[in-house]
Amino acid sequence: MAPSLSLLLICLLALYTPVTSKKECGRPPLGDGKELEGFQRVYSPGDEVVLSCKRGYTPTSGSRTILCTASGDWTKSKLTCSTKSCSFPEALNHGDMEFVDIVYQSTINYTCHEGYTLQGASTIECLYDGQWSDPPPKCTPVICGLPPIPKYGKMVYDRKLTGNTTVFGFGGTYECFPPLVLIGNERGSCSTNGDWTEPPECKLVTCSAPTGIINGYMTVSDKREHGFKETVRYGCNIDYVLDGPVEIECLKTGDWSMKPACRASCKVGIKRGRILYNGKKFWIKDFKPNKISHADVVLVYCMNKEKKCGYALSTQCIDGKLKIPECFEEPSDLTYKFNYDSLPSEIAQC
Ligand SMILES: *[C@@H]1O[C@H](CO)[C@@H](O)[C@H](O)[C@H]1NC(C)=O
Ligand SMILES: *[C@@H]1O[C@H](CO)[C@@H](O)[C@H](O)[C@H]1NC(C)=O
Repeated sequence: MAPSLSLLLICLLALYTPVTSKKECGRPPLGDGKELEGFQRVYSPGDEVVLSCKRGYTPTSGSRTILCTASGDWTKSKLTCSTKSCSFPEALNHGDMEFVDIVYQSTINYTCHEGYTLQGASTIECLYDGQWSDPPPKCTPVICGLPPIPKYGKMVYDRKLTGNTTVFGFGGTYECFPPLVLIGNERGSCSTNGDWTEPPECKLVTCSAPTGIINGYMTVSDKREHGFKETVRYGCNIDYVLDGPVEIECLKTGDWSMKPACRASCKVGIKRGRILYNGKKFWIKDFKPNKISHADVVLVYCMNKEKKCGYALSTQCIDGKLKIPECFEEPSDLTYKFNYDSLPSEIAQC
């Protein structure tokens, strides 16, 4: 019975095919954001379909109905669907926002600057109805308590302090009651973690009685303890010059700043010859007094024996010591008296 039924079906199809030359329409073409109500695999000529916009898209006016034509094509629809937009977000105070677009399904990420905390949603999304999923968040400053105040000191606030809390960035300058000295941070402020910066201490600073210097003196022989910032001056005995600051100061640490030293002057240790000092040439016997100060420079003359010319070489007085360059040769008494024209200081210079 089964084979006869199959045969019958084949015969029926063979009969039917030439009759159904009428074409069918396939799936209707959908553009951006469009959808259609109901869905069939095949549509016959004369079938109508109503298009609409998906959630989050706004339709433009125009015919939404398309028709399956006898040729198997769909008529064109005038409907276009544009993505819904949310309102442009307002700038976030003390924070930043990040977004690419503000249309349906766009997101905005919010972050707060250092010292501020985010209140509300950190991410909001543009919903299908053109509304943001949450109101924009706020960045509120971190809260600190009252500043720590050192014993015997105070803080001068940058602006008026109201209530018993402070906010990030609020600060002031510490002061100690004289004669106490502030040791540590002079400025204080409410920091990002909600704590105050480390307060300073107010301490009494004394420096021990100052001591004298060798070959010199203190201008006031004040052998007593001194307070912070008090000073003592020094001078040097005759023939000595001060190396370092003329004044020392009692420091916060209770130590004195660096003391100067007195440095001895030098004698130019040659007996016969000419020197150059402060841009002037002197025969040594005319250089009176034979004395140059510590750190001063003097030049002596040497002979270049190959080229037969003279040249000057400098040497410096260091705390009583003046090294005469090795190339210097003391002339004989005779040469110095009667043939001094041949000395390196007198002949052509190299
Ligand atoms: C928001 O942050 C998420 C997670 O960090 C990230 O994947 C997304 O790309 C960000 N969105 C924008 C618009 O920057
Ligand atoms: C701050 O002051 C309020 C009222 O002025 C008080 O209720 C609160 O306990 C105080 N907080 C602190 C930490 O002192």
